[in-house]
Amino acid sequence: MSVAITTVWAGYLISFTTVAEFTIIGGGVIGLSIARALHKRGARRITIIERGTCGREASWAAAGMLAPNAETEAIDDFYRLCSASNALYPQFAAELLEETGIDIELRQTGTLELAFDPAGAEHLAGKYERQTASNIDVERLSGENVLRLEPAVSEDVILGLHYPKDGHVENRKLVTALIAYARKNGIEIIENSEVRIENGQFRIAGPDLSSRDPEVIILAAGAWSSFIKPALSVKPIRGQVLEFDGGKGVLSRVIYGAGAYLVPRADGRILVGATSEDVGFVKEVTESGVRDLADAAVRTVPAIADLKMNDAWSGFRPFAPDGLPVIGEMDGMFVATGHYRNGILLAPVTAELVADKIINGTDSECFRYFSPDRQLFAVGS
Ligand code: FAD
Ligand code: GLY
Repeated sequence: MSVAITTVWAGYLISFTTVAEFTIIGGGVIGLSIARALHKRGARRITIIERGTCGREASWAAAGMLAPNAETEAIDDFYRLCSASNALYPQFAAELLEETGIDIELRQTGTLELAFDPAGAEHLAGKYERQTASNIDVERLSGENVLRLEPAVSEDVILGLHYPKDGHVENRKLVTALIAYARKNGIEIIENSEVRIENGQFRIAGPDLSSRDPEVIILAAGAWSSFIKPALSVKPIRGQVLEFDGGKGVLSRVIYGAGAYLVPRADGRILVGATSEDVGFVKEVTESGVRDLADAAVRTVPAIADLKMNDAWSGFRPFAPDGLPVIGEMDGMFVATGHYRNGILLAPVTAELVADKIINGTDSECFRYFSPDRQLFAVGS
């Protein structure tokens, strides 16, 4: 009996999965990762609708750090989500290499957070105590031992915290690989087309104007998500990043330094980030942003002063009022947004959760913790 029910249910799932039309609003790392995860579970009619060019907003501007441990002091639901995603990365990277030939340059070489003055050292010492009390994987290093690990760091360093499980990835190669996966596997990508919901009706504005009535809608529009669903109250927090060239071999791992972080790339580029500014959708690089980041980078790693500054850009982190991701069902659509400072890190786990829920009906506590309906959004929704 139970076998018969399972067979009927499985048959329904297979036909739903292959026949249903899935429409994803937004072609950033979150929308692209969800498209891939749906496809890997058998979905065949998947469309990504992107206002501009896929992968060119926050997911392109990011630095690609995977830092669940450096960025927490307690083991809470958010930490568990971040750690779960970090643990998915080796398989995610290996599969994307196999599927697309693109190496997303995953490096799980650890991360260092450094202090250069007594106040900074006191802060790090307190953080170390709180993190070890919470069983977070962290090591305390003297200035001398920091310099053994990273000789290019300023000799003024007096204390370091080392997070051996943190790392980084080349996020631009990641979105390039996800786009390649989509193109190879018949996932339709419609670019330069903006989705609007007008009077409850799904509309697409752009050259590819077509009327659609999608069965399953997934909202992954990053910092713009509230234009579709105002109750989400997601807003942009601008981050500026600088890129230096010619730094091959200077650093082996991500460094959180004196007012900036530094992220080495395999080809010798070093990224320096980032500002955090509540200025709306103004995509600018400012004189003070560049100056403050460059000064902080040189104080942390003096050799940066002799490198060529190649590029500078800004992007918009999608920020929900409590700073946590928003993942779950809302008004007949699925929402995956609000990933704020950690969307690159959280892409694999978000995609797995959303695809498992949509295709297999698999529930997770995460849909409660990160629900769009959480108290926060009840007001004004
Ligand atoms: P996006 O990449 O912004 O994609 C959303 C897409 O939706 C866009 O392409 C947009 O054009 C499209 N869109 C919007 N509205 C519509 C519409 N109506 N119709 C169709 N398409 C629409 N995270 C980390 O994990 N590690 C880091 O080191 C890191 N560093 C960062 C540094 C900076 C400076 C910034 C800005 C962010 C950083 N982040 C980092 C955060 C990370 O980049 C984001 O959380 C993540 O990229 C969000 O992905 P997304 O797909 O939701 O958004
Ligand atoms: N996670 C790094 C940033 O958002 O700047």
